[in-house]
Amino acid sequence: MDDRSETQLQPDLEPNLVEAILREAGPSPTQDALLPILHAVQGQVGHISKETIRSIADAMNLSRAEVQGVVSFYDDFREAPSAKHVVQLCMAEACQAVGCRALAAHAKSQLGVDFGEATPDGAVEIKAVYCFGNCATGPTIRIGNRVHGRVSPERFDALVAPLRSGGRSA
Ligand code: FES
Repeated sequence: MDDRSETQLQPDLEPNLVEAILREAGPSPTQDALLPILHAVQGQVGHISKETIRSIADAMNLSRAEVQGVVSFYDDFREAPSAKHVVQLCMAEACQAVGCRALAAHAKSQLGVDFGEATPDGAVEIKAVYCFGNCATGPTIRIGNRVHGRVSPERFDALVAPLRSGGRSA
């Protein structure tokens, strides 16, 4: 199953869509319109790129840093398209006691990405989360809708390998 819940567009459609969203907001949108505009872009485009941040800042007479600050502050907004599969690793206390930090280091090194980044093939992204309620059998990860407990580095590799070769996240 594809984990993506957001829309992903062809890159050349993004500017037109952003332009339409800004047009919809009126000729000189006030700062109150920023969050609704960002939500509309996130919902329709699937992420908010640097180019989009520039377009929004120009249209609203804001600095890019102001728009960027809002995008970075809210977890709802992504600055890059999400990967096909998101692997969530629990980094909360009980999982820390049983080695989730070492597991996260292994995941980062195996995939060559940090939290919040997708592998270059767009197949897998890792994300830090804080507790799945599976604390007694950590380290815990979640792939798609399925929670996996007692995940060793070897088990992590075995669970993630099929995702990178086009498999499903069960
Ligand atoms: S602390 Fe990891 S599942 Fe609760």
